Amino acid sequence: MPKSDFHEDDDDDDDDVVFLGSPAGGGVNSEDPSVPKPVEAQQRYRTLECRNFWRAGTYEVPSGPLHRARRAALESYDFDRARVHPKFLHSNATSHKWAFGAVAELLDNAVDEIHNGATFVKVDKINNLKDNSPVLLFQDDGGGMDPEGIRRCMSLGFSSKRLKTTIGQYGNGFKTSTMRLGADAIVFSRASRGSCVTLSIGLLSYTFLRRTLKDDIFVPMLDFQIINGQIIPLSSNSQDEWDSSLKTIIEWSPFSSKEELLLQFEDIGLHGTKVLIYNLWMNDDGLLELDFEDDEEDILLRDQAYSGGFSRSNKEIVHCHISYTLKYSLRAYASILYLRKFSSFQIILRGKPVEQVNLADEMKFMKTITYKPQVCKDAEDVSVRVTIGFAKEAPVLGIFGFNVYHKNRLIMPFWKVVQEGSSRGRCVIGVFEANFMEPAHDKQDFERTPLFIRLEAKLRQIVLDYWKHNCHLIGYQSYSTKTEKRKLKDSDKHSYEHSSKTQHKMPSVHVDGVTRLDVSAAEPSGQACAQYSIVEQSELGEDSEDIEIMDISDPTLIEKISEESIQLFMRRAELQLKTAQLKQTVEELEHELEEAKNRYSQLVADLETRRTQQVKK
Ligand SMILES: Nc1ncnc2c1ncn2[C@@H]1O[C@H](COP(=O)(O)OP(=O)(O)OP(=O)(O)O)[C@@H](O)[C@H]1O
Ligand SMILES: [Mg+2]
Repeated sequence: MPKSDFHEDDDDDDDDVVFLGSPAGGGVNSEDPSVPKPVEAQQRYRTLECRNFWRAGTYEVPSGPLHRARRAALESYDFDRARVHPKFLHSNATSHKWAFGAVAELLDNAVDEIHNGATFVKVDKINNLKDNSPVLLFQDDGGGMDPEGIRRCMSLGFSSKRLKTTIGQYGNGFKTSTMRLGADAIVFSRASRGSCVTLSIGLLSYTFLRRTLKDDIFVPMLDFQIINGQIIPLSSNSQDEWDSSLKTIIEWSPFSSKEELLLQFEDIGLHGTKVLIYNLWMNDDGLLELDFEDDEEDILLRDQAYSGGFSRSNKEIVHCHISYTLKYSLRAYASILYLRKFSSFQIILRGKPVEQVNLADEMKFMKTITYKPQVCKDAEDVSVRVTIGFAKEAPVLGIFGFNVYHKNRLIMPFWKVVQEGSSRGRCVIGVFEANFMEPAHDKQDFERTPLFIRLEAKLRQIVLDYWKHNCHLIGYQSYSTKTEKRKLKDSDKHSYEHSSKTQHKMPSVHVDGVTRLDVSAAEPSGQACAQYSIVEQSELGEDSEDIEIMDISDPTLIEKISEESIQLFMRRAELQLKTAQLKQTVEELEHELEEAKNRYSQLVADLETRRTQQVKK
């Protein structure tokens, strides 16, 4: 029976516990080799009852009398040192909200091996030999890991990366990313250090740790050395320990024997690393989070479809754009993941190389702006070249934002520094490398420091400036001087159009009260889009020009803004008071007026009565 079917019916079901012979009410399976397990039950035991990543971290460690396996586990511990509970593996991985963020970490580890000779990283789906379930494979031909290296890889917070150029720095990416993608991972690495060639295997299995009730993260490892063409087991500890590691790996990995394990080195070459992630996480519907079926040359994120935000006419084109597809297509994301094109390295996704895309090649009316962030007083001058332009599809696509890289690796894709929905900044895209800031631990954001806040303000200013001076190039009306604005204020809608037309040679027509520009005249390449509804009348209002450009390099800016806010607040309170006073005056005057009117009516009536009496006399 295929595993996914098996689990659809049985998710969150603890019946298997009883079946496997654990004490009644124990709630978690225990390892009891004396109880024979039918194949199906064994398979079920080798996967967790909960296959959803976000829920897999909450589980109860059984209370009450300790059953045999738990007591044995506790007794074997060395209480003289702090331990790391397997739950930490899971909670640590929750930093990756987005599964592709985890995939990127494993690609980074291969890219960081370029200086050790890596020429490729393969990402593919293979099948678990034991139960035919999908396994995610990452394989590179980098320097590989020797026995010490693989232990560093499996440990938390150890990084061997000392070069300033490497992407890896925290010593955490491997653990968070494998755990975020699946419950279990096995690593095969071959290293060649001088004349010493080693083969190493490590198993990081959350399923094993949980099912055997470990209170500490235990990672079984096996090492071999190749001497005169012979594969010789290497053991720094006792033979018993080596045998026990082999037994655990065979039991909890997709491989059933030492020979099967060693076969995995056959296609690694002289050096390199292979990471297999299995028991991949599923969504709430019991389907794999990673979709291998829909596109056989890609890996898709099943639940990442974008809902709404675009007009129906634009939807189709927008959905093909990389700013959208990168959210769910690994091929799209991998294509922009690294800023500079590799000269002798390839990402091979499901047998097909990923074509690298530089956002600067996707722009028109491109411009480069140099920004000098104030990193800190004593630091060397830092200078960042920001490339900015209109998306080549402009004005049709409303996409915008900056791709921000750190050490060549994309950290923030299409970061929106201006408000969504505003015409200002529409279709403006940019790209730059921000090595002067530190990425967050999931490498999907930057630390929120004052430097970051200043950068955001600066980028906003850059976009608005760019827009102000160039929006006419994609068919938007623009005007640049206050004098002109004043002129526009005085004139009616038609003369406004005339003025802007003569300035920018942009023909425009009126349809349904909306100003539409015939942008085909502005398209140098003639690509786009006559009769495209571009600017609503309201968007051409006064505030288009009222952008106060502030000097954000001024360190006292925040105080100045706060001071200004307080002044404005007080002014507002004053005006509110005045408004209330005026309202009262108005009410009093209205009352007086009413009284005067009554008196007048009275007088008119008296006069009329007297006149009538005089006439009678
Ligand atoms: N594919 C690989 N080839 C060779 N060594 C690797 C590979 N993957 C991981 N390593 C080794 O394992 C160590 C830990 O990797 P891990 O991704 O956890 O941390 P890191 O890359 O050093 O830093 P970061 O947490 O920022 O990614 C690395 O420093 C490296 O020595
Ligand atoms: Mg890493």
